[in-house]
Amino acid sequence: MKKILITGGAGYIGSHTAVELWNAGLEPIILDDLSNSHAQVLERLKDITGKSFSFYMGDCNNRVVLDQISREHEIAGVIHFAAFKAVGESTIKPLDYYKNNLGSLLVLLEYMREKGIRDLVFSSSCTVYGQPDVLPVTEVTPRKDAESPYGNTKKIGEDILVDYVKSKPGIRVVALRYFNPVGAHPSAKIGELPMGTPQNLVPFITQTAAGIRQKLTVFGNDYDTPDGSCIRDYIHVVDLADAHVKALGFLFQKPLDFYEVFNVGTGRGNTVLEVIHAFEKVNGLKLAYQIGPRRAGDVVKTWADTRKINQELGWHAKYTLDDCMRDSWRWQLSLGERKGIFE
Ligand code: NAD
Ligand code: UD1
Repeated sequence: MKKILITGGAGYIGSHTAVELWNAGLEPIILDDLSNSHAQVLERLKDITGKSFSFYMGDCNNRVVLDQISREHEIAGVIHFAAFKAVGESTIKPLDYYKNNLGSLLVLLEYMREKGIRDLVFSSSCTVYGQPDVLPVTEVTPRKDAESPYGNTKKIGEDILVDYVKSKPGIRVVALRYFNPVGAHPSAKIGELPMGTPQNLVPFITQTAAGIRQKLTVFGNDYDTPDGSCIRDYIHVVDLADAHVKALGFLFQKPLDFYEVFNVGTGRGNTVLEVIHAFEKVNGLKLAYQIGPRRAGDVVKTWADTRKINQELGWHAKYTLDDCMRDSWRWQLSLGERKGIFE
């Protein structure tokens, strides 16, 4: 069984990917410093899969722990999730973001070179496109200047990988540009643990429905969209996890010194009001919400052209927006009024 190192594997997307790797016959080896996750996620992974996972508690910037992993396992490929991801915080602590998100990538690439590990899947984001001029967004849509240090770490991360692969180091890389990951594992055993007050729409919806927040504010209903609220492409986290498995299988077949980028979305755009109404309908609830002013710097509308990932990876999103809303709510219910799994 091939072993895949997952940096940030205790986090939201990493934990779901660990499950999908197991389901596909690949063994995940998890490295996480738990800066934004909890060790008990490992217990939850065991509950879901019936398997014990190798877990290393450590910083991906630290070669000592990476070397230890390679002494104990033969690593066939890496999925690099480890990063800080709070857009607002990145404007206050830009150096922390550049150091963690880019430093970890550089350390990882050196480690891979020395150990002869060839395959890497990198977590990028649709944030690199900013507000696209043409929709849907294809992979050749020009990237825009980043709106935040966080967004810039994704853009620069991609640039580092492109330059590195050009130098013919004998590796193969896929960068996945995620649209808006939402939902949770249908078992409701793992999901997203937002830090403090959620800034993202879906955790704010579920916390409002749970009574943790009083009211959701819709940031603007006077945009040039069918109902005036902004449009995004919401992708279920289990579908997203599966895209990583498919990306690895794709890489294993490719010649060395290969770099490719894929959008990961559903190809469908939904407005904020559509998301709210889907949540209400599928869960039989009424959500307390109000229309408020626009959020500064918001992208008005974006959704993915998914033809490339459909054709080249054979990947298709299976879950619907209703599934996303059902699973997000079940995850929230499993948390009760707690903000974290074990708080
Ligand atoms: P997350 O915070 O839930 O997971 C990241 C994990 O990495 C956490 O468990 C954290 O403890 C760990 N970590 C951070 N720095 C580390 C380090 N130096 N060493 C070891 N572990 C470290 O975030 P997520 O939502 O699962 O995101 C995963 C990746 O996907 C990130 O790179 C993120 O930027 C990217 N991404 C996320 C979204 C999103 O909306 N969630 C969208 C686009 C891209
Ligand atoms: C945010 C990040 C982006 C990241 C993406 C995926 C910012 C500026 N950008 O983008 O870098 O890649 O998440 O995680 O934070 N909304 C409300 N009320 C709320 C919260 C959100 O109406 O309380 C609306 C927003 O205006 C937006 C939509 O919901 O139209 C989605 O917002 P959000 O979840 O923050 O994601 P993005 O804006 O796509």
